[in-house]
Amino acid sequence: MANVIIVGTQWGDEGKGKIVDLLTEYADVVVRFQGGNNAGHTLVVDGTTYILHLIPSGIVRPDKICAIGNGVVLDPQSFMEEIEYAKKLGLPISGSNLRLSSLTNMIMPYHKALDHAREARKGKAKIGTTGRGIGPAYEDRVARRGIRVGDLLNRELFENKLRDNLSYHNFMLENYYSAPTFNFESVRDDFLKLGEALAPYIGDVSLLLDEAMKAGKSVLYEGAQGTMLDVDHGTYPFVTSSSTIAGSACIGSGVGPTTIDYVVGIVKAYTTRVGSGPFPTELSDSVGEHLAKQGHEFGATTGRARRCGWFDAVVVRHAVRTNGVSGMALTKLDVLDGLETLKICTAYTRNGKTIENMPADAAILESCVPVYEEMPGWTESTVGATDFTQLPKAAQNYIRRLEELVGVKAAIISTGPDRVQTEILENPFA
Ligand code: GDP
Ligand code: IMO
Ligand code: MG
Repeated sequence: MANVIIVGTQWGDEGKGKIVDLLTEYADVVVRFQGGNNAGHTLVVDGTTYILHLIPSGIVRPDKICAIGNGVVLDPQSFMEEIEYAKKLGLPISGSNLRLSSLTNMIMPYHKALDHAREARKGKAKIGTTGRGIGPAYEDRVARRGIRVGDLLNRELFENKLRDNLSYHNFMLENYYSAPTFNFESVRDDFLKLGEALAPYIGDVSLLLDEAMKAGKSVLYEGAQGTMLDVDHGTYPFVTSSSTIAGSACIGSGVGPTTIDYVVGIVKAYTTRVGSGPFPTELSDSVGEHLAKQGHEFGATTGRARRCGWFDAVVVRHAVRTNGVSGMALTKLDVLDGLETLKICTAYTRNGKTIENMPADAAILESCVPVYEEMPGWTESTVGATDFTQLPKAAQNYIRRLEELVGVKAAIISTGPDRVQTEILENPFA
């Protein structure tokens, strides 16, 4: 048995969903531990595409248990809709294979309204959030007024908390944002109904994981977003509102760090970002278009076009350090097929100085200029390749160089969206 954390090393959308689905074969339980339905995780199995936002990507394998930990913020309406979506695709889902921590904070309708109102007020300086209410829901959690999933099972407690929250948030909506307010009875009735639907899924995820591990079972922790979107270690304030790095897996599910054996860093063979904020290697030329087109770089949650750029080794080195990455899963190698020359950002320069490590200040990062190293590309197709030694020599050299620059080996190489278009060089569960 082994327990493995999977995290994104860049700005999200690295291909976490695909690799989680792949590695779920070796796990018994798959856990989401942070983020919410701002995530969009895509997996393709036998030609069927599944896009999941809240439900762990392990759900596609019916014999596995999936769990949503306390570190997630959960929109109950979206959760129930996603269960319906997955059922329509033929996935058997019930309270026995999908568990939801009673400690999980809920995203309430006023959180979404606040998210939109704040972004609108910021105008050009907006973060470019997914509009799902993620930030305001996390704020309420640390402000100790959040309404948790388990509160729905105690009507009086729920009503009291909702009343307090509405009096506070309605005041802000009305007087600070000049936005519409919410009616207590209407929100209460909607949520009490949702509580009934949610009830079969609610339980103690920390205990479930402890019992599974004591029984010799393996747990896979599925990160959302990416290291550069981490609320502390990312490009603050252009980040999400949760800790996205590996350490968050323990806090967000209720297990101790000594139980973890391996951290997989998902690394896209180039870089993308959705939303605002600094992005040193961003391209606005034909190469950027090639990456966007070949990589189908459109958001799985909001459909927004993703900004694309060259591989940034400063970013991934930062992620390797902050996550303690054991091995990387290099994804979307095939998207580089046909590019004559590949550039890799090895460091930045700013005011004549070389910068090797990620600056703490996003404003400084904004003024950093990438230092590029060039490598020859390849003309052959790598789509679906499952044998490293059969890859074009130039592709092998590219991978070896990335390994050197970021300081960890490629444990997995992905050459297409489908589960089978992958090679496992080192199995994290072994
Ligand atoms: P996540 O948020 O990290 O799970 O990633 P997304 O699902 O948002 O975005 C990754 C996209 O790339 C999805 O459309 C995947 O189907 C696709 N994908 C994953 N791995 C590969 C790969 O190796 N090659 C190609 N061409 N597409 C991939
Ligand atoms: P997955 O798990 C890419 C970005 C948003 C915005 C910032 C804050 O699919 O990799 P939020 O709604 O979280 O307050 O938005 O974070 N963002 C993501 N970008 N992939 C994601 O998830 C993201 N989740 C949030 O675009 O810039
Ligand atoms: Mg995504």
